[in-house]
Amino acid sequence: MRSHLQELRDGATVSGWPQRFGQVRLATEAIAAPLSPEDCQIQSMPDASPIKWHLAHTSWFFETFILAPNVPDYRPFRPEFKVLYNSYYNAVGDKHPRPERGLISRPSLSEIYAYRQYIDAAMGETVLSHPASMTPKIHALIELGINHEQQHQELMLTDIKHLFSCNPLAPVYQPRWPLVAVAKVAPRFIELAGGLVEIGHSDTQRFAFDNEMPRHKVYLEPFALANLPVTHGDFEAFIDDGGYERPELWLSLGWDEVVRSGWDSPMYWRRVDGGWHTFTLHGLVPIDRDTPICHISYFEADAYARWAGARLPTESEWEHAAGIVGRHVDDNHLESGLLHPVAPREGTTPARHDLHKMMDDVWEWTSSSYAPYPGFRPAPGAIGEYNGKFMCNQNVLRGGSCVTPESHVRSTYRNFFPPSARWQFSGVRLARDC
Ligand SMILES: [Fe+2]
Repeated sequence: MRSHLQELRDGATVSGWPQRFGQVRLATEAIAAPLSPEDCQIQSMPDASPIKWHLAHTSWFFETFILAPNVPDYRPFRPEFKVLYNSYYNAVGDKHPRPERGLISRPSLSEIYAYRQYIDAAMGETVLSHPASMTPKIHALIELGINHEQQHQELMLTDIKHLFSCNPLAPVYQPRWPLVAVAKVAPRFIELAGGLVEIGHSDTQRFAFDNEMPRHKVYLEPFALANLPVTHGDFEAFIDDGGYERPELWLSLGWDEVVRSGWDSPMYWRRVDGGWHTFTLHGLVPIDRDTPICHISYFEADAYARWAGARLPTESEWEHAAGIVGRHVDDNHLESGLLHPVAPREGTTPARHDLHKMMDDVWEWTSSSYAPYPGFRPAPGAIGEYNGKFMCNQNVLRGGSCVTPESHVRSTYRNFFPPSARWQFSGVRLARDC
């Protein structure tokens, strides 16, 4: 059976940003379509948000940053939403506490869908129907709003997964298992020369977040990068060797987290009849040892690398390597409908350097702290809060995941999460010094 996400991908022709706006708004609602109103209400942990909140907040973004400041006599859908669906923009004003988003039972889900239609209509009738009114600044904000909504599409799926994992009935978001037949690729390290290289976004014709700029020079010592991400089977070997019981493998903060949280395996792993299973958006399934590991923290990625006699790549090493490899036409992103990492498939050997799965399946932790690039300047005003103010106590992840929209992926993209976070599709690729 074809998934609703596949139908969306195949049915839409993307040509220009008005069409992209419509397609992205539609894709968000397609993700919520299999869910009940009760599913959309619950907040399963402070880091996650209710689906209803995501549906509203992504509309709030267009209302707050494009419609309200630029459309004469704009009437907000409901003035209270300015506070209710403000995520973290202090310059906009008050905001509802993040851990209490699940308590907002009113407005109802149907009213939130009405809010979305109101925003779509306002965008269509005012901004989108009058191209002459499109200043470069408004155009840039719409692009930002589209990319912001794509970020929330991924968060919706990771938050649904966490919510369903808390239910003893182990609900299935999408019944589809097994995913695809796989072909084994032998793991090995690929040596790269390094030297003086450039990283960061420089293409003024394509969208990028401000944290990807400016492009700048970095010197890299020669290094080697694994041709594959670490797999579920690799991580099982780490567990079997006492990986979660040996403090010498862990950073101090990481070991504290192991003890405090009782970690003995990656998130969503469960022992069933003596074997490891993992909870997926397709339900509880036996782990597939050939597929990239997902839902590990930076601490677990780092401990695994130490156990394996390797290290994490820096984000500069990762981006330099990814720039050499390029994209693959069948990368596993949201549009594949697989919603889980898969092993390299037959006939997908990369043309250059044999580095597999760089841009898809799982985000890859790097050893790099999330910090500003040389010359970074956040945008003035509230929109400058989008990225810059989070550049402390987080680590950079690179690539993209099986729930990242395909058009959202690029080699310069800098994702970031605290080192203990593991509810995203986060994995690891090893590096070594040469
Ligand atoms: Fe947001």
